[in-house]
Amino acid sequence: MRVAVTGGTGFVGMHTVRALAKAGHDVVAIARGTRARLLPKSVKFVRADVTDSANLAESFAGCDAVINLVAIIREHGSATFDLVNRVGTEHVAEAARTAGVPHLIHQSANGADPNPAFPYLQTKWAGEEAVVGSGVPFTVLRPSLIFGPGDGFFTLLARVIRLTPVTVIAGDGSTLFQPISIDDVAQCVLVALQRGPSHRVHTIGGPEHLSYNDIVGIIKAAIGAHRFTVHAPVPAMVPLAFLMQTVLPNPPLTLDQLRMLPVNNITRLDSVSAAFGFEPESFGDNADYLQDY
Ligand SMILES: NC(=O)c1ccc[n+]([C@@H]2O[C@H](COP(=O)([O-])OP(=O)(O)OC[C@H]3O[C@@H](n4cnc5c(N)ncnc54)[C@H](OP(=O)(O)O)[C@@H]3O)[C@@H](O)[C@H]2O)c1
Repeated sequence: MRVAVTGGTGFVGMHTVRALAKAGHDVVAIARGTRARLLPKSVKFVRADVTDSANLAESFAGCDAVINLVAIIREHGSATFDLVNRVGTEHVAEAARTAGVPHLIHQSANGADPNPAFPYLQTKWAGEEAVVGSGVPFTVLRPSLIFGPGDGFFTLLARVIRLTPVTVIAGDGSTLFQPISIDDVAQCVLVALQRGPSHRVHTIGGPEHLSYNDIVGIIKAAIGAHRFTVHAPVPAMVPLAFLMQTVLPNPPLTLDQLRMLPVNNITRLDSVSAAFGFEPESFGDNADYLQDY
């Protein structure tokens, strides 16, 4: 199949385009271009910004599917959640409709919700609405946190643990997550592509519900870091999160993440096998890649 992947140069995008190319698909990766040189040689790159719909429909022409992986987890400058995650997805869905694309596979996020208290999740929800209401046959995936080489969350956490003498956890660390491997997310996309539009929203996660404390423990064991852990009250972390997001290009903690902290990020333990027919990998058994970062 000929497949366009918007956001094809990001963490999920790189793994997905490699898996698509390996499976013999003809792949066009679309992004603004910061990491285009890392794409496999067989993958065509088209420069486009989803916040400006100008050449999107043209890039989708003749495609059997569009896979939309563009979103931001942190706002920076003019790139707001609303502009990239909602308006950008509206542009992708509209362009897919104009180009007559028969299947739009859209990556949302577990917890997507209309509640404006959580702007990232609210704009991910609005993006889903744009896809579902576009008239383009669709499949929506809502993964929990994704782990694997190049990930944002686990790698950054491993670096912070390695660099600091004491590990500080905001709150009691009991919030639950269901990490899913990047290879399994890419495999879900491949299965969705082969099956065709499901017209459903599939929430997917790995085989374990892990608390934040569990995740920190797994990372410490994987990288061999023997550190004490202390729990800090969430209000005490607010000034630190504000400082980090103001001065650091890639902050380990933001105010938005602190707000989302009490919300569990889990689904059924059999979500992947039930919807996609295979058993996903455990984070606990596959965290060794963090030793390389
Ligand atoms: N990572 C996770 O744990 C996780 C969990 C659940 C859901 N998700 C979802 O999975 C998707 C991919 O996430 P990711 O972790 O791969 O993010 P990422 O690494 O930040 O990649 C984002 C991609 O989007 C492109 N992009 C950003 N702004 C753009 C714009 N205005 N126009 C065109 N392209 C743009 C980036 O390339 P350029 O900067 O070169 O444009 C890059 O290719 C997102 O929808 C995210 O919400 C991720």
